[in-house]
Amino acid sequence: MTPIEEIIINKKTTNCPIWLMRQAGRYLPEFREIRKSNPDFINLCLNENLSSKITLQPLKRFELDAAIIFSDILMLPYGLNQKVEFRKNFGPQLGFLNLDEISKVDEIDFIEKLYPIYKSIKKVSKNNLIKNKNLIGFIGAPWTLLVYMINRCSPKKELIKDFFKDSFLINRVLILIEKFLKLHIDYQIKNGASIIQIFDSWAGLLEEKDLPNYIYIPTLNMVDYIKSLNVPVICFPRGIKNYKNYCDIVKPDVINIDYNVNPISICKEINIPIQGGLDPKILLTDKENLKKQALKYLNIFKEHPYIFNLGHGVLPETNPAMVEYLVKMVKDY
Ligand code: CP3
Repeated sequence: MTPIEEIIINKKTTNCPIWLMRQAGRYLPEFREIRKSNPDFINLCLNENLSSKITLQPLKRFELDAAIIFSDILMLPYGLNQKVEFRKNFGPQLGFLNLDEISKVDEIDFIEKLYPIYKSIKKVSKNNLIKNKNLIGFIGAPWTLLVYMINRCSPKKELIKDFFKDSFLINRVLILIEKFLKLHIDYQIKNGASIIQIFDSWAGLLEEKDLPNYIYIPTLNMVDYIKSLNVPVICFPRGIKNYKNYCDIVKPDVINIDYNVNPISICKEINIPIQGGLDPKILLTDKENLKKQALKYLNIFKEHPYIFNLGHGVLPETNPAMVEYLVKMVKDY
C-alpha cells in the first residue's frame, strides 16, 4: 500500500504524506522552458510525451508521494467541442455554448479527442518515479464546469446576474457534464490513475438553498461512481461555508480544505481523512515562517489521518527552494 493509501484506507496517523496542487507548473524553470516553445496550453495537455514529462518534473526534484496528471478541468468542455483558450494574464476563455452542438458529441468523439491524456496517464503510471506512489487523476465538479461553460471565463467574485435564467439549458448541460465526466473518470482509471480528485473551485459562489441541486446531488453522483470503481475520491469544494454538511452528504474518502478553514475546528468536526489547508502565499515568505505555519497543520492533525497539501495551488512566483524545504520538513516530522 502507498503512503497515501495508508492514510485513506487504514486511517493511519503517522508518516504524513505530501503532494501539492499545481506541483507541476510555472514556478518550475523546467516547466517554463517547455511552455516557452508550446504557447498553446490545450495542445500541451494533448501532447502525451510532454504532458507526461511535466507530470513527473516535480517528482524528480522533491520527495512527493503523488503525481497529479498535467491536464486541466476545462478539457471536458474542450472534449464536448466548446472552444477553450487560455489567454495570457487573463486565464481561460471559452467560446459560445451551443447546446445543439455539444449534444451531438458522442462517447467515441469525446474519447478520441482526449485520448492523448489517457496515453499520458499510462506513460506516467509505468514510470519508475511513481513506484509506491499514487497517480492522481482529476475532474472539475459538475458545478464548477457549468460555471465555466456558461460564464465562459473565470467568474470574479459572483455569478453573472442572469446565470440561472435559462433553466432548460442549465439542466441539459448538467446532464451532459455528468455523463461525460463519468467517461473521463473511467478512462483515467483504466489507464492508471489510482485516486481521483474532484475540484469544485467555485463551490463558494452558491447560496445554501442552491447547494443540493448544483453541488450535493451532482457531486454525490460522481463520488458514488468513483467508489463503484474501487478507487478513492478526494473532494475539494473550495470556499464552501459548511464543510461538515458537505462531507455528511457527499461522503468523499478524503476532504481537501481551503486556507480559510480553521484547522482546529475542522479536525474536531470531521472524522474522515483531511488533506491540505496551508495558504500557498506562505511559500512566498521565508523558511522560518513556512516552518512555523506548516508545523501548525502537522501538530493540529497529529492524531487525525492527514495528507499534507495546500489550500489552493502553488503560485507561479514561488521559489522551488521553498517547496523543497516544505517537503523535507513534512517528511522529517
Ligand atoms: O495540480 C496540478 O499540477 C495538475 C494540473 C492542473 C492544472 N489545472 C494545470 C494548469 C489541475 C488539477 C488544474 C485544475 C484547474 N484548472 C482548476 C481547479 C483548481 C483551481 O485552480 O481552482 C481550475 C479552476 C482550472 C481552470 C484553469 N486552468 C485556470 C483558471 C487557469 C488559468 C490560471 C492562470 O494561472 O492563468 C488554468 C491554466 C492552468 N492549468 C495552468 C496549469 C499549470 C497554468 C498554465 C500556464 O499558463 O502555464
